Amino acid sequence: MSTNRYKAVIFDLDGVITDTARYHYLAWKRLAASQGVHFDEAFNEHLKGIDRMGSLDLILASAPRAYTPEEKLALADSKNAHYVELISTMSPADLLPGAVEALDACRAAGLKVGLASVSKNAFAVLDMLGIAGKFDYVVDAARIARGKPDPEIFLKAASELGVSPADCLGVEDAVAGVASIKSAGMTALGIGDPAVLAQADRVIAGLDHFALADY
Ligand code: G6P
Ligand code: MG
Repeated sequence: MSTNRYKAVIFDLDGVITDTARYHYLAWKRLAASQGVHFDEAFNEHLKGIDRMGSLDLILASAPRAYTPEEKLALADSKNAHYVELISTMSPADLLPGAVEALDACRAAGLKVGLASVSKNAFAVLDMLGIAGKFDYVVDAARIARGKPDPEIFLKAASELGVSPADCLGVEDAVAGVASIKSAGMTALGIGDPAVLAQADRVIAGLDHFALADY
């Protein structure tokens, strides 16, 4: 297959370009413990790609009591404050191996490059990583009504890039993200474990294995 198969590549951020998935995990783990909820890596897998309030609802579903909307907002704010503290020292050194090379390879092949992260911290993270200028379009998560696995965020990226979804390759580390790409009608490249990302068209271990001509 040639690189001409696509006109755009739309990347997820957390867990694909940088290992912030780890920091989300640590922040949710502390929040869960504070509410008496068991939390482990397996449960965290279901939270990847899920927006902040959606993730909180999933965690609190096994809490011993019910929460008011105000309490939930306060808990979400406290998780985010911890997360922001964890990422505050991020720099270009936190780019995952192969990330910059993958972005540059897409650009060099004449493709549009988009970012589709439901994180409201995405713009700040891109700035800290020093790669904000490498994207033709970054979706503003604050303006997305339905998070992954809904296709809205990938469809928004494609439409802003002026490319039809069928001409897009989406790159994701989350089960919900791969589902979002597939229901948008795009080809999905998974990052991680093929057994977990079973819905992806192809799965690689990381962007250091990214080879555009292969997909
Ligand atoms: C990404 C991460 C999720 C995170 C979500 C919202 O999708 O994979 O773990 O919950 O963004 O991030 P935010 O920074 O807005 O809380
Ligand atoms: Mg992700």
